[in-house]
Amino acid sequence: MSGISFGLEGKIVMVTGGSRGIGLEMAKMFLEQGAKVSLCGRKQEGLDAAAALLNAGNRLLAVQAHAAKSEDVDMLFQRTLDVFGRIDVLINNVGMNLITTVVDADPVMWQKIIDSNLNAAFLCSRKAGQIMRSQKSGKIVSISSLAARRSAPAMGVYGIAKAGIEMMTRVLAQELAPDVQVNAVSPGMVKTRFSQVFWSDSNLHDQIVKTIPMGRLAEPLDVVYPVLFLCSDAARYITGQVLMVDGGASAI
Ligand SMILES: NC(=O)c1ccc[n+]([C@@H]2O[C@H](COP(=O)([O-])OP(=O)(O)OC[C@H]3O[C@@H](n4cnc5c(N)ncnc54)[C@H](OP(=O)(O)O)[C@@H]3O)[C@@H](O)[C@H]2O)c1
Repeated sequence: MSGISFGLEGKIVMVTGGSRGIGLEMAKMFLEQGAKVSLCGRKQEGLDAAAALLNAGNRLLAVQAHAAKSEDVDMLFQRTLDVFGRIDVLINNVGMNLITTVVDADPVMWQKIIDSNLNAAFLCSRKAGQIMRSQKSGKIVSISSLAARRSAPAMGVYGIAKAGIEMMTRVLAQELAPDVQVNAVSPGMVKTRFSQVFWSDSNLHDQIVKTIPMGRLAEPLDVVYPVLFLCSDAARYITGQVLMVDGGASAI
């Protein structure tokens, strides 16, 4: 237990891409806070392993759904409403990268990266926004990336997609105010499978750490706490913002 209470007891929280990495840690912490969680992933075995680990009984719904496919997103929201009755929080956590430069990206690759990051966040935010607007309450938090503001080798298309998510955060914050708050967090490198290709190479790891004033990569929990804060009443006057969670990397 973290020992910190974020006042999220009884809240209905959807975490896209919650079967491993940051999303799984997020689901765990929301459950610890007394929330009910609906999560999705593409692979059933990942969802089964996450459900076994989280061991949350009927406070957890794990749905096989591709967050960039409109029909899957509709089904995910319908199942969540059928089981839990409302949606208080959406965490747009799904994201992926394929290693390429922009100039050499073929259009299929470009589309895949844009779909899995920007389009997935659009499809889920659109559904959540409509539901939360009629509930007259809700919070949407998207996971962006330092790559949205700093061009990084092999992460150009991904950075462009995340920059789109940051602009969507500001647009939706205005469209859904005053009842629904829309924010994003922007992590630097976090130690998950997603970025393992970079941090598992000790030379590359050390080079990256040199660019971080706090002198280490992030752990998933470093990202989860700021998300919980943005979903809590302590953030009641914050909307349309992107919170950097990068150990100070963007400050230098
Ligand atoms: N790790 C980092 O260094 C880092 C840094 C900055 C930002 N981020 C962002 O943080 C978020 C989480 O990253 P992570 O490191 O936790 O990634 P991860 O370890 O690769 O986990 C990704 C999760 O999303 C699911 N997923 C991926 N594509 C999906 C789709 N189209 N539909 C549904 N589920 C999907 C995966 O399950 P399935 O494979 O079964 O679908 C898995 O549960 C992403 O948005 C990423 O861009 C990560």
